[in-house]
Parts: sequence; structure tokens; C-alpha cells
Amino acid sequence: MLNQQDKQRLGEDRQLVRRWLGGDTAEPLVIPRYQAYQPWEVLCPSLGAKLRGNLRALMVLLANSLPISSWKIAIYRLLGTKIGRGVYIGPSVLIDPLYPELSTLRDGCVLGIGCRLFAHEITAGNLRLGRIVIGADSVVGAYTTVRSGVSVGNSVTIGFNSFVNRDVPNGATVAGVPARIINTGQEPE
Ligand SMILES: CC(C)(COP(=O)(O)OP(=O)(O)OC[C@H]1O[C@@H](n2cnc3c(N)ncnc32)[C@H](O)[C@@H]1OP(=O)(O)O)[C@@H](O)C(=O)NCCC(=O)NCCS
Repeated sequence: MLNQQDKQRLGEDRQLVRRWLGGDTAEPLVIPRYQAYQPWEVLCPSLGAKLRGNLRALMVLLANSLPISSWKIAIYRLLGTKIGRGVYIGPSVLIDPLYPELSTLRDGCVLGIGCRLFAHEITAGNLRLGRIVIGADSVVGAYTTVRSGVSVGNSVTIGFNSFVNRDVPNGATVAGVPARIINTGQEPE
């Protein structure tokens, strides 16, 4: 049972999330996790929001299990993911089921098999939300994870099985855990 102070804090946290979601800032939202209530009470503030969240999660599961990229794209677009032309989504790709609308896939990008875009993050200490952009003609390597708040430039290659926790400049190749630039894509002077 929440006391008055907890209720006030919960209301403030929900408002922070609502305001951030209503804007378009590239800066992630990080709020300290308050132990009196559970993270989903902040992220899904009403019964309607919980039901919508569950429905979205079901649709994401469906998208994941479909074999054809264009079908997956149709479902993610319905869920609010911004997807350009000529995008390919590989098998078992996971776009954040709680906040699919926070990811943008620009024209011609490829999401390799089993890669994951996580727009929300719960830790023991924080709740974090961040928009993710995958630039035009970029390739996210198979089984790679992209963290909330990361913007990947255009014509970028991300290696297999990487963890991308920083923005990636146009034309670069990055790989590893955490991902580091292995080729800038710039001609030597
Ligand atoms: C990143 C990648 C493109 C690099 O290929 P490449 O240009 O032939 O580069 P190399 O194999 O010569 O590797 C260059 C360096 O990066 C390292 N490296 C390459 N891929 C890596 C990875 N996934 N994780 C960690 N390090 C990696 C290599 O070990 C090498 O390091 P070294 O010079 O210290 O030995 C390739 O390894 C890769 O991961 N491709 C992923 C393609 C993919 O998943 N596409 C989508 C699904 S089809």
C-alpha cells in the first residue's frame, strides 16, 4: 500500500514519462527507480495502458515469428515504428515490445537475424527510455543489441553479436561488446 508521499512520487514519475514520450528529444530519459512501486506502474499507468502493452507485446511476438520481412514491417508500422522504404527485417529480430514507436528505421536499412533494439531499460537503480535510429542503408549485424538512445548513422555496418551503446557516425564499421569503430569508412588523406 502506497503512502501519500509514494503516490505523489509515482504521479511525478508518470508525468515525466508522459512528457518525454510526447516530445521528440534524442536525449534518453533516466529516472531513479523508486522501490515503493514497480517499474510497470510508472510505464503502464492505467489498466488501458497495461492492456495496450500486452496487446503490443503479442503483436511483436507475432511479427517475430512471421517468416516474411514485409509482414513484419506491416505489423511494426501498425505499432508505430517509423519504417522507411526498402527496409529488411530478418528472422527473430526484436524491436522493443513496450515502446515500438521509439524506433526509426530509415530507407534501405537491414536488421540482421536475431538483432534487438531495446528502447526501454529497467535496472535496479533506474528506468531509462531512449529513441533509436538506424540510418539509411545501414546493416545491424546478426544477434547485435542496440541500446536505448543510440543513433546509428547512414551506411554503417555493425558486426555480428555486438553491443552498440554509443552513436555511430555515417559510413563507419563498428563491432564488439561494447562496439568500437574498426573502420571509419573515410579515405585516408
Ligand atoms: C564487422 C564485419 C563486417 C567486419 O568484416 P571485415 O571487414 O571482413 O573485417 P575483418 O574480419 O578483417 O575484421 C577486422 C577486425 O575487426 C574484428 N571483428 C570483426 N567482426 C567482429 C565482431 N563481430 N565482433 C568483434 N570484433 C570483430 C576482427 O577480429 C578484426 O580485428 P583484428 O584486426 O584485431 O584481428 C564482419 O565481421 C561482420 O560482423 N559482419 C556482420 C554481417 C551481418 O551480420 N550482416 C547481417 C546479417 S546477414
